[in-house]
Amino acid sequence: MEFSMIIMFSSTLVFLCTPVAYAQTAATPPAPTPTPSSSPAPAPAPTPPYVSLTDLLSVAGPFHTFLSYLESTKVVDTFQNQANNTDEGITIFVPKDDAFKNLKKPSLSNLTQDQVKQLILFHALPHYYALADFKNLSQVSPVSTFAGAGGYALNFTDVSGTVHLDSGWSKTKVSSSVHSTDPVAVYQVDKVLLPEAIFGADIPPAPAPAPAPETSLAADSPSSDSTGDGSAPGTSPPNSSYRIFGVDVWSQLVLALIGVLVVFL
Ligand SMILES: *[C@@H]1O[C@H](CO)[C@@H](O)[C@H](O)[C@H]1NC(C)=O
Ligand SMILES: *[C@@H]1O[C@H](CO)[C@@H](O)[C@H](O)[C@H]1NC(C)=O
Ligand SMILES: *[C@@H]1O[C@H](CO)[C@@H](O)[C@H](O)[C@H]1NC(C)=O
Ligand SMILES: *[C@@H]1O[C@H](CO)[C@@H](O)[C@H](O)[C@H]1NC(C)=O
Ligand SMILES: *[C@@H]1O[C@H](CO)[C@@H](O)[C@H](O)[C@H]1NC(C)=O
Repeated sequence: MEFSMIIMFSSTLVFLCTPVAYAQTAATPPAPTPTPSSSPAPAPAPTPPYVSLTDLLSVAGPFHTFLSYLESTKVVDTFQNQANNTDEGITIFVPKDDAFKNLKKPSLSNLTQDQVKQLILFHALPHYYALADFKNLSQVSPVSTFAGAGGYALNFTDVSGTVHLDSGWSKTKVSSSVHSTDPVAVYQVDKVLLPEAIFGADIPPAPAPAPAPETSLAADSPSSDSTGDGSAPGTSPPNSSYRIFGVDVWSQLVLALIGVLVVFL
C-alpha cells in the first residue's frame, strides 16, 4: 500500500516537473550544424599550421579528377607555394569528380596542355577569402583568378548566405566548405569552371533542366532547394506545434518511467 502511494506520489511529482524540463529543452535552439573547418579559432595562432593541399583533396570530395589535373599540370606547386609562402593566401574552388563526369558539352579532352593548365589555375583566387567575405566581393565582380583577368575572371554573388559563381559558361555555387582557415580556403563547387578565355564569349544558353541540387552549405538558407520543387499547392511546412506536442507527450512518458524505476531501485 505504502509502496504504491510512493509510486503515485513520485509519478505526480515527475509530471509536475516535466513542463519545466520540457521548457528548458524547448528553449535550447537546435545547434547549427558546424562546417568542419569553421571553428571560431579562439587563440591567435602566430604561425598557421602548414596545410598540404594534396592531403586535403585526397581525403575530401572525392576530388580525384581535380587533384590529378593539379598534379599533371604542376599547378599544385603554384598553389602550395602561394599557401606556404605568401601573406595573401589562397582560395580554391574544387569541383567533385561527378562534375567532371557530367561535363559533356565542352569537352576537356581536346584542350592543349597549356589550356588545361589555365583551366585549373582559373579555379583559384590569389587571396584567402572566408565565405563571409564574398558579400563584399560581389560588389567588385568580376574578380581576377590565378589564370588572370578579363576572360579569366569570375563573378560572385551572395544569395542569402550562399556564394554563387559565374564564369559565363559555368553558373554554380559553393556547396560545401572543405577547409577555411587563413591562409587556405578550399570550397567545393557543383560544376567545373569554364573560362571564356578558352571556350569563347559565345556562351550557349543554359540548359533548362537543372540537375538535382546537392547538399546545400547554408542550412539556414530559405532557398527553394530545401522544399524540392516547392510551391506546389497543398504542400505546407510541417506543423511544428503538432511536432512539439508529440515531443512533449513522449518526454513526459519517459520521465514518468524513469521516476517509477528510481522508486524501485
Ligand atoms: C610547403 O611547406 C611544406 C612544409 O613546410 C613543404 O614540405 C613543402 O615542400 C612546401 N611546398 C612549397 C611548394 O613551398
Ligand atoms: C574538340 O574536338 C571537337 C571534335 O572532336 C571539335 O568540334 C571541337 O571544336 C574541339 N574543341 C576545341 C576546343 O578544340
Ligand atoms: C565590406 O565592405 C564594407 C564597406 O563597403 C566594410 O566596411 C567592411 O569592413 C567590409 N567587410 C569585409 C569583411 O571586408
Ligand atoms: C560580371 O559582372 C560584370 C559587371 O557586373 C558584367 O559586366 C559581366 O558581364 C559579368 N560577367 C559574367 C560572366 O557574368
Ligand atoms: C497545427 O496544429 C495545431 C494543433 O494541432 C493547429 O491548431 C494549427 O492550426 C495547425 N497549424 C497548421 C499550420 O496547420
